[in-house]
Amino acid sequence: MLIRVPKKSEIKENELTPESVYKSRREILKKLGIVTASLPFAAQAQANIFGIFGGDDDKAADGTTFVRSPLVAEKTPYGKGLETTPESKVLTYNNFYEFGTGKGDPVENSQNFVVNPWTLEVDGLVNKPMKLSYDDLLKKFPLEDRFYRMRCVEAWSMNIPWVGFSLAALLKEADPMGSAKYVAFETLHDPKQMPGQRSQFVGGGIDYPYVEGLRLDEAMNPLTLLSVGLFGQTLAPQNGAPVRLVVPWKYGFKSIKSIVKIHLLEAQPATTWNLLAPHEYGFYANVNPQVDHPRWSQASERFIGEGSIFSSRRQPTAMFNGYQEEVAHLYTDMNLKANY
Ligand code: MTE
Repeated sequence: MLIRVPKKSEIKENELTPESVYKSRREILKKLGIVTASLPFAAQAQANIFGIFGGDDDKAADGTTFVRSPLVAEKTPYGKGLETTPESKVLTYNNFYEFGTGKGDPVENSQNFVVNPWTLEVDGLVNKPMKLSYDDLLKKFPLEDRFYRMRCVEAWSMNIPWVGFSLAALLKEADPMGSAKYVAFETLHDPKQMPGQRSQFVGGGIDYPYVEGLRLDEAMNPLTLLSVGLFGQTLAPQNGAPVRLVVPWKYGFKSIKSIVKIHLLEAQPATTWNLLAPHEYGFYANVNPQVDHPRWSQASERFIGEGSIFSSRRQPTAMFNGYQEEVAHLYTDMNLKANY
């Protein structure tokens, strides 16, 4: 099988050591030639050569200067009772490799990112192809508050109050043809604005644009959200402005940011992390405590709440990130170990 069960020592390292320390150690070992790395990451380690002893690779940058606007949205019962991750952390602890691979890089490098004008194109196997402007995105579909859990494949999690609308609403309007089986998504490709797209070192070795995909029935599930905001305001660039996907039962890398294209097709589309490391990141990427990442356990996660990022509490990972009732039926006859 493609999944390798991690050795006990590997689980301990990842579970008990704060992520920044763990990563710095790995970088040091890599530099000493003790740990082998895949090519893009070896290159990246080389690029980081002067930074590693500072240990600040994952330090969240302070502040955000991008001006967000308030949004009016209907309240929904999603996420009632969940503990909220502070807005300051949602805005400064990010993964958006187009702006750099450190957690603080996106906020630091994206504040002048142009989100208006914007065009989101919906095409492929649909009867009514569409082009949505920035204003269409905010006004065409009634907005809802959706408070969701978010679980990153790196074994940390946040609870985030999103604003957006069901992807299903948009897809219904585009009117998928009977032959459509999958939905492919694409992030903006603009190396002038995105330093990670200009340099393999900055962008983590990814071949841009970042692409993602869902099966059509996953895309039509009412939980699947196109988000245009969080904490009652429009999205900040570092969180994927002006429009991003949120698929709360899947690992965070499926939730593609700053989308310019939605394309319906018959065959399963290629996805960025699967292209980069197919033995580690599959197409499905459903949150599953029983299917470990080849290099670490997925049985538990570090919840980012109040307090210092690295003193966050550990909690067990929930099957489908707690959304079993809403989505388990999508995978009834599927081997989730083989389809990781
Ligand atoms: N989308 C693009 N285009 N580029 C990225 O690097 N990172 C993904 C996802 N979407 C990513 C992306 C990963 S790994 C995660 S965990 C989430 O965005 C993080 O979302 P957040 O920074 O808003 O918390």
